[in-house]
Amino acid sequence: MCGIFAAVSDRPVAGVLVQGLKRLEYRGYDSAGVATIDDDGMKRVCAVGKVAALESRVEAERLPGCIGIAHTRWATHGSPSEGDSHPQIASGVAVVHNGIVENHGALRRRLKRQGCNFHSETDSEVIPWLISRAVADGLGAAQALNLLDEALEGSFAVAFMTEADRNVLHAKRHGSPLVAALGPQGGYLSSDISALAGLAKEAIVLSDGDLVELRRDAIAVFDKIGRPVSRPRLPVEASGGAFDKGGYHHYMLKEIHDQPSVARAVESRYDRGDFIGEQIRLDFDQVDRIRLIACGTSYYACLVAKRWFAEIAGVSAEVDLASEHRYAPHVADGLREAAILVSQSGETADTLASLEKLEGLGVPTIGIANQQASTLAREADYFLPLLAGAEIGVASTKAFTAQLLVLARFVAHVAEQRGHRAAARRLRAALGEAPKAMEAVLHNEAAIVAVAETFAKARSALFVGRGALYPLAMEGALKLKEISYIHAEGFAAGELKHGPIALVDEQTPVVALAPTGALFSKLASNVREIAARKGRIILIGDRKALLALSDVADASLTLPTCDELIQPIIAAIPLQFLAYHVAAARGRDIDRPRNLAKSVTVE
Ligand code: G6P
Repeated sequence: MCGIFAAVSDRPVAGVLVQGLKRLEYRGYDSAGVATIDDDGMKRVCAVGKVAALESRVEAERLPGCIGIAHTRWATHGSPSEGDSHPQIASGVAVVHNGIVENHGALRRRLKRQGCNFHSETDSEVIPWLISRAVADGLGAAQALNLLDEALEGSFAVAFMTEADRNVLHAKRHGSPLVAALGPQGGYLSSDISALAGLAKEAIVLSDGDLVELRRDAIAVFDKIGRPVSRPRLPVEASGGAFDKGGYHHYMLKEIHDQPSVARAVESRYDRGDFIGEQIRLDFDQVDRIRLIACGTSYYACLVAKRWFAEIAGVSAEVDLASEHRYAPHVADGLREAAILVSQSGETADTLASLEKLEGLGVPTIGIANQQASTLAREADYFLPLLAGAEIGVASTKAFTAQLLVLARFVAHVAEQRGHRAAARRLRAALGEAPKAMEAVLHNEAAIVAVAETFAKARSALFVGRGALYPLAMEGALKLKEISYIHAEGFAAGELKHGPIALVDEQTPVVALAPTGALFSKLASNVREIAARKGRIILIGDRKALLALSDVADASLTLPTCDELIQPIIAAIPLQFLAYHVAAARGRDIDRPRNLAKSVTVE
């Protein structure tokens, strides 16, 4: 959600800025812009829509400036228009901003009274005005940036440059992520480390409150009281391999196919020695309750883990949506808790707010995220990486199954510490089967394409499951609505008759997650209830289950036979394929669905 990219070099930077923005596209945006400074002054080029539209304009303008800032904007205040795009410029100061200025109304009124002439509807435009006024009052750039801390309410990351000094970029991080790097051809700022591929070998991950002064051959980082500081450096993946679709039409399809190799990467890191024990110095035998917090797809991974914690580790777990948890009343019931916060990006504003709340309550926190340079990775007490590699498609696929794989290993670790060794062994053995089982589902893609073609005409769809597959029903529905824009809901199959069954008719496909297992006979009864109401049933199950329900299924998607414990991991794949192929049949912009962002850094 919004992306900052900036560069200072001894050669023109417009091309590298556009390339940087392309690599930030996946975060979600609806307009983009760049500004550079050359001998003739500051030049700004913006475009609504894709970075490709901006690219042609930038090429036509032939910007010669060797310093520049760029931005992808996901509109919050003001429309996705050229005027409201960033950079926002005031009196020779150009600013790109991620985040929201919550008190922008009051600031704008004050600045207007002081003679500032606003050109946009954005909350962000107050920033260049505040900086330019501070500079006009004789303050240095660092002092001007520090003034923002006092003036602005909300979280932000800001980068700016001034016409007065064409050699230096300034930036400040206050809540929203930002990294800085030096390479052979210059200095760079980016919202995301992966956008620096091919430009620098390592990046400095800024901490909250940090200021940066970036020149073509030097980086200086200062903390919020102005002391020079050294911050952790992380390696930048050498190639832009993550940005290669690998021959697939979309990143999402590539990422669905990546899942067996992600499962192997997770296996080789987590099954070597006591990896989790080395990362997390907590005795789970002394923990009464696990608290799981996340948003979106990550929340559904937590719901699956809740069942595993109870079944395998004998510990109860509570799952909360971060957006609710952060404002929920806290009940001090004396139970000893450990909290797990799950996120692919590690930057979701609500999840980070929950982290802060839990830390304030003294609850030990464990972050699980794909981005090792993320705020969650840095600020949780302990951290487990997902190892899914960069996920570019907005709809999470391989990061979701990686979350399940890592959470399952975590459950096995907790189970062992609590003396449930046999259950932990069973879970680990089942996880060992996951990569092969995933491959078997990937080989069935053609069957799913056929189902998707008729499914694509539906106006609404239902997904049902029981037990650990109930969260997968919700995830299947979320995936479908995110990228195909078909209305879809996921239900616990047993709840159907308490309301949702009223929605069942001949036009409504019902996807039933029905592999053989402890709850199969219950699920089978629910499927028959749907069939009796003429619902169009798409069954997802192993051969035995499909055979048992073959008389009522309109279509069937086969899962390999595997331990029931890992069925949620394997069942994710046909659901992802279904959403993908339905969206493809409807001609949707699959990797960049409307209105959605990959990294939701505002509340
Ligand atoms: C956005 C993404 C979803 C994701 C959710 C939570 O809405 O589009 O794919 O599940 O945020 O994000 P997180 O990074 O915390 O997992």
